[in-house]
Amino acid sequence: MNKTRVLYVCDACGGHSLKWAGQCPDCGEWNTLVETRMPDRLSPRQAVSSASINSVHPLAELEGRSEPRFTTGLDELDRVLGGGLVSGSVTLIGGDPGIGKSTLLLQAAASMASGRPVLYVTGEESLEQVGLRARRLGVAECPLQLAAETCVERMLEIADKFKPAVLVVDSIQTMFTEILQSAPGAVAQLRESTGLLVRFAKTGGTAVFLVGHVTKEGAIAGPRVLEHMVDTVLYFENDAGSRYRVIRAVKNRFGAANELGVFAMTESGLKEVKNPSAIFLSRHATPVSGSAVTVIREGSRPMLIEVQALVDESHLANPRRVSVGLDPNRLSMLLAVLHRHGGVAMFDRDVFVNVVGGLRVSETAADLPILLAVLSSFRDKPLPNDLVLFGEVGLAGEIRPVYNGEERLREAAKHGFKRAIVPQGNAPQKKAIEGIQVTQVNRLQEVLNAI
Ligand code: TYD
Ligand code: MG
Repeated sequence: MNKTRVLYVCDACGGHSLKWAGQCPDCGEWNTLVETRMPDRLSPRQAVSSASINSVHPLAELEGRSEPRFTTGLDELDRVLGGGLVSGSVTLIGGDPGIGKSTLLLQAAASMASGRPVLYVTGEESLEQVGLRARRLGVAECPLQLAAETCVERMLEIADKFKPAVLVVDSIQTMFTEILQSAPGAVAQLRESTGLLVRFAKTGGTAVFLVGHVTKEGAIAGPRVLEHMVDTVLYFENDAGSRYRVIRAVKNRFGAANELGVFAMTESGLKEVKNPSAIFLSRHATPVSGSAVTVIREGSRPMLIEVQALVDESHLANPRRVSVGLDPNRLSMLLAVLHRHGGVAMFDRDVFVNVVGGLRVSETAADLPILLAVLSSFRDKPLPNDLVLFGEVGLAGEIRPVYNGEERLREAAKHGFKRAIVPQGNAPQKKAIEGIQVTQVNRLQEVLNAI
């Protein structure tokens, strides 16, 4: 019989200690140690001797082997995965409840099922509920196999018989392994269950999707180690009330991180948005003040977005600085630069800044458009309708280049923009870009003169 021992496992870092303590000795978080029963494992010596001695390979021999990929049937999902799903990979998808994780994976699973065996295991919903959703999505006729199961061992037994090329587990928080006695969702359970699934994926070459719940702060619930164990971590996000959903890769062993995929939630499931610039850019018929258009680059594609600002008289001792979709500290910094190097003071004004379409922008390329949107609202003078801007603003009032300048300019020209104000380093060096007249700037003062 298995002997068990009691360990105290940290919720935050997954570290364990033999005694309970108020503070985790590994990561220093408070009140995170949870009592967990663990079976006795192999001793390190046994574990080593069971590993293959022949497991040393020259690097050169491994080169040229490229991982086989196949499409999920959804181009936007393929894009964030780095160009399709890799056999034997484990992908964790996190997101708020009701955002559409189950919908996305059911759609992808149904589409993949026409070419290969796919198993969808649900621990959250009954088979009838999944069936109803499939009917709504119009995929009820596809050869997808379903199972309602929460025990990992039994699930793997089914999977061993069925040998799926793709296994979807919805959600990892509802799964438990018989090795441990703690409840599903507990830290140790999450770690062990994920470990078993990762091993299954690597040995059998099955691509595994895990749905993960998120905490109030928006991180995937459970220990951080979960994100280390899997190959790819995707987050499914949206802005409150918006029907657009953005899927973002924060970690990807098989492709670029920070890649974005855009979907719209409709009556009949998620629809891909092929041209995101079209939704994040609301063109006004006549120019309005407080609006500036910029080109951001997320992952491997440029995207046009509109930044809006409203500057209003303040009656508060501490005027408000509100930013939606942007870092508030960055906004305060930009206002300070505008004051010091542009001579425009806003200490008696409330300043509101918003990125249209519910997108979150972390790129510094948005500095210049934010500044000009604020200035435009302050002076109540609209920027030209066909003007696009990007560039990082430094504390010394300098405008710094951002990467992939030419590509951004080409995207802007494609959408009919005629004028651009960009950092000097980003202006086309050899050949002008057709249809767009580029003004190069070095200092904030030059921008103010150019407008
Ligand atoms: P769901 O995939 O169940 O979310 P999650 O698994 O992330 O919790 O998505 C449920 C939401 O999506 C629900 O609010 C209804 C909406 N929805 C649609 O608008 N259209 C559809 O075709 C489907 C299936 C769901
Ligand atoms: Mg769900």
